[in-house]
Amino acid sequence: MDVVANRACQSPKVSVIGAGNVGRTLAQRIAERNLADVVLVDIVSGLPEGIALDLTEARGLEGHQRQILGGTDYTATAGSEVVVITAGLPRRPGMSRDDLLKTNATIVAEASRQAIAHSPQALLVVVTNPLDAMTYVAWQASGLPPKRVMGMAGILDSARFQTFIALELGISPTDVRAMVLGSHGDLMVPLPRYSTVNGIPIPELMDEGTIDRLVKRTRNGGAEIVELMQTGGAYYAPASSTCLMVETILLNQPRLLPIAAYLEGQYGLTDLFIGVPAYLDSQGVNKILELNLSPAETAALHGSAKAVRQTLEQALALL
Ligand code: NAI
Ligand code: 2OP
Repeated sequence: MDVVANRACQSPKVSVIGAGNVGRTLAQRIAERNLADVVLVDIVSGLPEGIALDLTEARGLEGHQRQILGGTDYTATAGSEVVVITAGLPRRPGMSRDDLLKTNATIVAEASRQAIAHSPQALLVVVTNPLDAMTYVAWQASGLPPKRVMGMAGILDSARFQTFIALELGISPTDVRAMVLGSHGDLMVPLPRYSTVNGIPIPELMDEGTIDRLVKRTRNGGAEIVELMQTGGAYYAPASSTCLMVETILLNQPRLLPIAAYLEGQYGLTDLFIGVPAYLDSQGVNKILELNLSPAETAALHGSAKAVRQTLEQALALL
């Protein structure tokens, strides 16, 4: 592996597979928060090396001591505490949804297999879309126990809901806690009853029409940014959301977060990864919290799960 520094990485180490917008921004967040050394891996030769060198040249200015390495093979990833998969392709003109699903499933499966072969003790965090199905694919390919595999989406979707609530009320987002469950897509399940401003549920602070508008904007959060940018999607908030998971794991500061976790009967759902509130620490997903959902909320979650299962079955059939 080509590296930008000749000193080997020291623990803790996080490997980020895919040095695109999300991967490189995550690498920057991890290093600049002084959380871990980072190894960036990408299929495009020179790209991860260049980004690693650029980030390394900012070290003196940013005032951190973390090593950032980059390359096209997995050798330097060995011994990682956390592996994050952000590798994938965006949909290209003429590419069908099935083509994209097959391509990303193949990339995620291969990346997970290779990364975990080098770091069998690692926790695996998946970011690549379609998120819930790709997390399942990564889990199967890695051979890891399900508690050590998880997907990032609920933190991002909840952060978007949090932002829109704060903007609506004209208050700081730090006073807002929001909760979004379900799949990462149109059928995600924002939960107004479990979203609060310093403990006050938002249905007590705004009318139903306003909440519906904020819920719709949250569901459309990723697409809204793609429509504005035209070339590519969001990456700052996705990187921050993923970094929160990495930080929770590395610092072993247990958190209750919305995570795409493996369900074994919780919420009446079995054998799939989908966004639910889960206790996360250095060992992985320790427990899934089963909220007391209303019939409408349960139906929405099950609708979301049905869509995830369809995508997953397609992905597994295409692999
Ligand atoms: P990007 O296109 O900027 O980067 C993807 C990178 O993956 C590229 O550098 C590409 O060369 C690399 N890659 C492709 N095949 C590879 C392989 N076999 N091994 C290693 N690297 C490989 O995309 P971006 O914006 O960074 O997004 C990455 C993924 O994350 C996409 O699937 C995107 O939809 C998803 N995403 C998910 C979010 C979530 O909430 N779960 C939020 C934002 C993005
Ligand atoms: C996002 O939500 C597209 O998953 C990406 O921004």
